[in-house]
Amino acid sequence: MASKKKMGYKCRIAVVLLLLLASIAALVAVAVIQDAWSTKEYSLQYGIVIDSGSSRSNVYLYEWPGEKQNETGVVSEKMNCRVSGVPISEMKVDQQKDEEAWKGFKECMDEVSKVIPVEKHKNTPLFLGATAGMRLLHEKDEQRSNEVLASLKEYLSSLPFMFQNASIITGQEEGLYGWITVNYLMGNFLEKNIWNSYVRPEGAKTVGSMDLGGASTQIAFSVQEAHSGPDYMHVKLYGYAYNVYTHSFLCYGKNEADKRVLDKVVQGSSDPAYIINPCYPEGFNITMKASSIYDTECTKKPKNYNPDQDFFMVGAANSDGCESIVKSIFDFKTCPSSQCSFDGVEQPPVTGEFMAYAGFFYTARALLMNGSTDLDQFNASVRNFCHTHWTVLKQQKTWISDKYLKTYCYASHYILTLLADGYKFDEETWKNIYFEKEVKETSIGWSLGYMLSMSNMIPSEVRYINPMTDPVFAGLIFLFSALTIVTVVIVFIFFVRNCC
Ligand SMILES: *[C@@H]1O[C@H](CO)[C@@H](O)[C@H](O)[C@H]1NC(C)=O
Ligand SMILES: *[C@@H]1O[C@H](CO)[C@@H](O)[C@H](O)[C@H]1NC(C)=O
Ligand SMILES: *[C@@H]1O[C@H](CO)[C@@H](O)[C@H](O)[C@H]1NC(C)=O
Ligand SMILES: *[C@@H]1O[C@H](CO)[C@@H](O)[C@H](O)[C@H]1NC(C)=O
Ligand SMILES: *[C@@H]1O[C@H](CO)[C@@H](O)[C@H](O)[C@H]1NC(C)=O
Repeated sequence: MASKKKMGYKCRIAVVLLLLLASIAALVAVAVIQDAWSTKEYSLQYGIVIDSGSSRSNVYLYEWPGEKQNETGVVSEKMNCRVSGVPISEMKVDQQKDEEAWKGFKECMDEVSKVIPVEKHKNTPLFLGATAGMRLLHEKDEQRSNEVLASLKEYLSSLPFMFQNASIITGQEEGLYGWITVNYLMGNFLEKNIWNSYVRPEGAKTVGSMDLGGASTQIAFSVQEAHSGPDYMHVKLYGYAYNVYTHSFLCYGKNEADKRVLDKVVQGSSDPAYIINPCYPEGFNITMKASSIYDTECTKKPKNYNPDQDFFMVGAANSDGCESIVKSIFDFKTCPSSQCSFDGVEQPPVTGEFMAYAGFFYTARALLMNGSTDLDQFNASVRNFCHTHWTVLKQQKTWISDKYLKTYCYASHYILTLLADGYKFDEETWKNIYFEKEVKETSIGWSLGYMLSMSNMIPSEVRYINPMTDPVFAGLIFLFSALTIVTVVIVFIFFVRNCC
């Protein structure tokens, strides 16, 4: 009888202890899985940014789990849509072209609308940012640029989305937002530590950003020393201060620099009916209108300028000749301070890794030099490309249309000069340049960084997110804590009874 009773008592103790252990295990498990668990609770949110560049507009749709937008790298690109028709800087000139451009906008916005659930439309922010093409138009014809923006605002605010603004962003903003995009996507601002809270990664390095658009080019990288000057921007992200050097060069985009090079080629020739262009491949020739070179603020119109004059150009495939013409559009001599890139612009030495995207990527890919490369190899492929006959190029590069293919000898010399002679990348630092167009399947450009900044999705201070604020989590913690206390009490009662 006595031994049987003892067995029962031991058994009950064991059951109670098991219960205690199970409660503790459950507590730990809930704590561990709470984050992954709560993600499912959030519904997706969306944001739209229209990047109106000098050659076209692109609509980007971003997506992120709601309430999690402040976490680094959670915003990704859901889709993008290339708006057909003329760029916005060429609107309000020809009614028919305007109609096509509006049709292009409508098609893209319809496509985007279909992807966003209807009930989310009114909470989806919509931004339009115009870059160098509109900066140039603003200089040339302020009234027309204001009219274009006003009609875009009218159109965009008629859509079901939460329209925010349509404005021309400055070159510096463009550079800074590109830098934010790159580093946000690479997770350089924040990482999760083992306690599930966000910290700045140990020994965190940021990556520099280089953008080559149609009308302007931007460089941005963070520097350690507390320099000051118009090209240094101080930003505080997630509680950490960065000193970012950024400069935007207007008229140094791929298309505008091309016009400036063509101007030099035309100026150096005596016969407009037979101009030898060392930057065009052998076997290639083209007739172009003077307006295609001179109808821009970036080139100086010649005396007796006639926009309808025809120029006939023949490719000469002369890499050295092309190199020296490309170099002639830069001023490498003037420098009011100790170190300059070009045109008298001060620039500290480039440090760290760089992401080179947009035109840099497309040009490097035409040479099959995307990713990270070696300066000498890059230089050799530029020469090789320029000396390849047009018919051979067309056979080799079937994925590039003629319109672009004819420009890549010039463009590759241009980026080589810009990076090596301008920004001063050498054999060592060139290896740190990555020619890419995407990170984590999201296009690299200023638009993501712009949306994150404009919607305060990158706070300047990190708020400690207390998991106890989640009601489900708090409820479970309460339940299991209560269970633990109850079992402890039961154990205690058993011991008291046994002793007395
Ligand atoms: C729109 O952008 C312009 C130019 O950046 C700015 O002056 C204006 O305040 C903005 N409007 C709104 C409503 O944010
Ligand atoms: C121009 O190119 C065409 C082929 O694209 C060729 O038939 C023609 O002979 C060329 N003209 C000159 C003057 O090189
Ligand atoms: C270069 O680009 C091609 C096509 O986009 C891609 O398949 C390849 O992996 C890239 N190479 C490097 C080194 O990034
Ligand atoms: C590229 O190579 C040529 C000779 O082949 C040389 O003159 C030039 O300096 C090189 N350019 C760079 C940026 O290294
Ligand atoms: C994200 O940042 C905004 C602005 O700083 C803040 O209002 C919001 O509460 C933050 N969200 C989270 C989940 O931290």
